[in-house]
Amino acid sequence: MSYRPLLTIVMLVCAFFFAASCSETEEYAAEPQSGVDYHSFANTEDYRITHVDMDLTVDFSRKVIVGIATLRIERLGDGNNALILDTRDLTIESVHAGNRDQVEAVSFTLGDSVDIRGAALAIELPADASTVVIHYQTSPAATGLQWLEPQQTAGKRHPFLFTQAQAIHARSFIPLQDTPGIRITYDATIRTPSELRAVMSANNDPDTEKNGVYSFSMPQPIPAYLIALAVGDLEFKAMGPRTGVYAEQEVLDAAAAEFADTEAMLEITEEVYGPYRWDRYDLLILPPSFPFGGMENPRLSFITPTVLAGDKSLVSLIAHELAHSWSGNLVTNSSWRDLWLNEGFTTYLTYRIMQFVYGDERYQMEMALGYADLQTDLDDLDDHDELLAIDVRGRDPNEVFSNIPYEKGALLLYEMEQKIGREAFDRFLLDYFNEFAFQSITTEDFLAYLDRTLIMSHPQELDADRIREWIYNPGIPEGAPHPQSDAFTQVDTIRQAWLIGAEAAEKIDTSNWAYHQWKHFLDGMPDRLNRDQLEDLDQAFKLTASTNNEIAFSWLRIAIRNDYEPAYDRLEDFLVSIGRNKFLMPLYRDLMAAEKVAMADRIFQKAKPGYHPLTVKRNSQIVYPESAE
Ligand code: BES
Ligand code: ZN
Repeated sequence: MSYRPLLTIVMLVCAFFFAASCSETEEYAAEPQSGVDYHSFANTEDYRITHVDMDLTVDFSRKVIVGIATLRIERLGDGNNALILDTRDLTIESVHAGNRDQVEAVSFTLGDSVDIRGAALAIELPADASTVVIHYQTSPAATGLQWLEPQQTAGKRHPFLFTQAQAIHARSFIPLQDTPGIRITYDATIRTPSELRAVMSANNDPDTEKNGVYSFSMPQPIPAYLIALAVGDLEFKAMGPRTGVYAEQEVLDAAAAEFADTEAMLEITEEVYGPYRWDRYDLLILPPSFPFGGMENPRLSFITPTVLAGDKSLVSLIAHELAHSWSGNLVTNSSWRDLWLNEGFTTYLTYRIMQFVYGDERYQMEMALGYADLQTDLDDLDDHDELLAIDVRGRDPNEVFSNIPYEKGALLLYEMEQKIGREAFDRFLLDYFNEFAFQSITTEDFLAYLDRTLIMSHPQELDADRIREWIYNPGIPEGAPHPQSDAFTQVDTIRQAWLIGAEAAEKIDTSNWAYHQWKHFLDGMPDRLNRDQLEDLDQAFKLTASTNNEIAFSWLRIAIRNDYEPAYDRLEDFLVSIGRNKFLMPLYRDLMAAEKVAMADRIFQKAKPGYHPLTVKRNSQIVYPESAE
């Protein structure tokens, strides 16, 4: 038999896949490959950036950053391929390359913006080039920047800028290899209006004179998604020897009081999981339009002011961002498929830190709330989004992440802890952080390490196949732990008595209720409540007026579902003044589900100028499902 027809078929099939892989709507193989970053153009097998020197001028009037990025590169391959960098919406003015002392203009091509990755910047390099200097500008629509008007700040006098680079948005303000698999050190000079202060994920010095020119260095190698900058009318207040807060004067004292336990959190985490390797740990309190709860930018976590509840009830957020100093910033997911290595480990550590600092009862309640979040997602998500090692190809990672990498990841670690005991498990985590410190690893690297450590030492207790089931299958394996809280069981009984009318709301003794019990009380309500019940709750507990944003959020969801219009002014105020997407998306979804389309549209249009660009995008998909804006 001639082999020719077979060869022809093979060639045709190859040509098809080649064409498909080049087309705009990229076709992917069935499974993502471990260790491949599908969200970056960078040719990291040819070149590696090791250091970036930034000179950035922050222009509030044009809402652009004018930048010079000097990249130090290491050549890995033998060929003389172009250096390919990630960019999005950048204007590239010139590129020079050469060695440290002498650079010359070189030719470059900025590709079209093809998909969520942005545009590839291909730079022709002289054979011995070790330095590349890029002059560029950002766009006012940069996905990694939010420019705030004075009106959106606490002081109302000065504008504010912050970056949010995770997951694939550093490229919208610096051209670089924007993949978590590559680590860089950096230096920066930041030029701002002279009355403002710049802070970065670097060596901030609280005593620096406010003069409009600020210098930073970040000597530990970090992935690009941890590069961060904020500029505003910022002051500093120390909380402990290594911890402090940057914030506008108006919220500085409240923040320092709310987060006063940060130093204790830092000390206990070091004791159990090994030294804190980043020198200082400070917090930056952002204006309320910050789209996340927190962001673990090294040495300087970015924090939403919506957790300033006055009673430390929401400070697990700080424990979480601090914990990333080990799980995430020290040991980093090598691509966004492996995010659970960052967030799952961090969520597990968060619970442990909360227990160390606040005791067993709070630990149980925090875990039980996390488990409830996990259950909600397991009910709602498609199977393929329930894996820990999740296929995020072709999608913006920020739009895919749910509670799965967080709470399912943490539950897997909790199961392992339960099976082998805390002492052995803590020892394992300490060794793991040391083994992979300042590296980026895949799920499979973790599994290989687990196989040769804990699974070897605990063959009776741990089962390698079961752990793989947790990671590669949807749902949670049978017999998985189910964290519970005695305090919540009591709340369940009380809620039930109230629901059947056996007890009026004002008769319930809530004087000792922790925030978590309120949250559990409200989140466990049935979908439908009648007007009398809503009024009974609101009058007894002043829920519409609650100053705890988590409680207000849970209550507003109930109000929308049941058309309780006395809460609508508060709802509007909440949606307009807060930009934290975790609150916004469910509320807009609830409004749409309740067919309050006109109200959703009106409030969204009013709030939109104050939202982060990515928040606008995601919520307009909810409010305008037909015409994804
Ligand atoms: N690193 C995340 C935020 C993030 C994740 C940004 C993925 C972009 C892509 C941060 O540590 C985080 O998890 N924040 C949570 C708070 C936490 C207590 C669950 C948030 O912002 O809600
Ligand atoms: Zn996190």
